[in-house]
Amino acid sequence: MTILITGASRGIGYELVKQFAAAGHHKIIAVSRDSEKLNRLQTFCNREFPDSEVVPFPFDLENILKPETQFFHELTLITNRIDILINNAGYLKKSDFETFDSANAAKIFNINFFVASELIRGLLPFLKKSEKSHIVNIGSMGGFQGSSKFAGLAYYSASKAALAALTECLAEELKPFRISVNMLALGAVQTEMLAEAFPGYEAPVTAEKMATFIADFALNGNHFFNGKILPVSLSTP
Ligand SMILES: NC(=O)c1ccc[n+]([C@@H]2O[C@H](COP(=O)([O-])OP(=O)(O)OC[C@H]3O[C@@H](n4cnc5c(N)ncnc54)[C@H](OP(=O)(O)O)[C@@H]3O)[C@@H](O)[C@H]2O)c1
Repeated sequence: MTILITGASRGIGYELVKQFAAAGHHKIIAVSRDSEKLNRLQTFCNREFPDSEVVPFPFDLENILKPETQFFHELTLITNRIDILINNAGYLKKSDFETFDSANAAKIFNINFFVASELIRGLLPFLKKSEKSHIVNIGSMGGFQGSSKFAGLAYYSASKAALAALTECLAEELKPFRISVNMLALGAVQTEMLAEAFPGYEAPVTAEKMATFIADFALNGNHFFNGKILPVSLSTP
């Protein structure tokens, strides 16, 4: 399968690339801004899992919002088909609502919502070439209706809630093309993002363990789910 994962330089995305590479016989396109980390990840996977191919794709995803973006053209040099898209790249800035900086609010919505939606739109020609493709949007319990909420996460949670609504809508609209769209609303996972937002808090789940679940869901979940927002949480920060 050909799998595109955003936010592959660290945390959950980094572990996801390793999980798919370990499974073998996949082409994994790994996107983040950090080319050095992506190259190191490729070297590691080439050595440990030679049956898979990891392709580093260094790119600042905010640039896909510009009409002149070269992202999709550059992608055609690597593949013309995507079977699985994991919209994992995310941005969290914790701050009181009253004093929230509007540039940060826009950045949160850009990366967590608009980049994910533009990526889906631009990748449709690639996803339609698959016999049965699966888009997995990575959400958060913060954006899951009725969950406990945390002060300082208003824009982050709202951006994930917007992505949840988009997931439900696109699942319906993309059915004729055999494209399934689901969201996993994650609880706390021990990563840099969590450590920065909640210093000292220890999450009950490692990035590696969460990636094992997400990889399996991405490969098989579309046979059982479409348009679903699934909470994946032992706790809810
Ligand atoms: N950790 C948790 O507790 C938790 C809970 C719920 C949901 N989530 C969600 O899970 C996903 C992964 O989170 P994580 O904890 O693994 O986060 P992380 O460790 O902070 O990693 C975020 C990833 O996103 C990439 N990224 C951010 N901005 C980018 C941009 N402009 N262009 C390209 N890549 C960009 C980063 O790559 P570069 O910096 O190299 O560009 C990095 O690889 C996110 O969507 C997050 O909201 C996490």
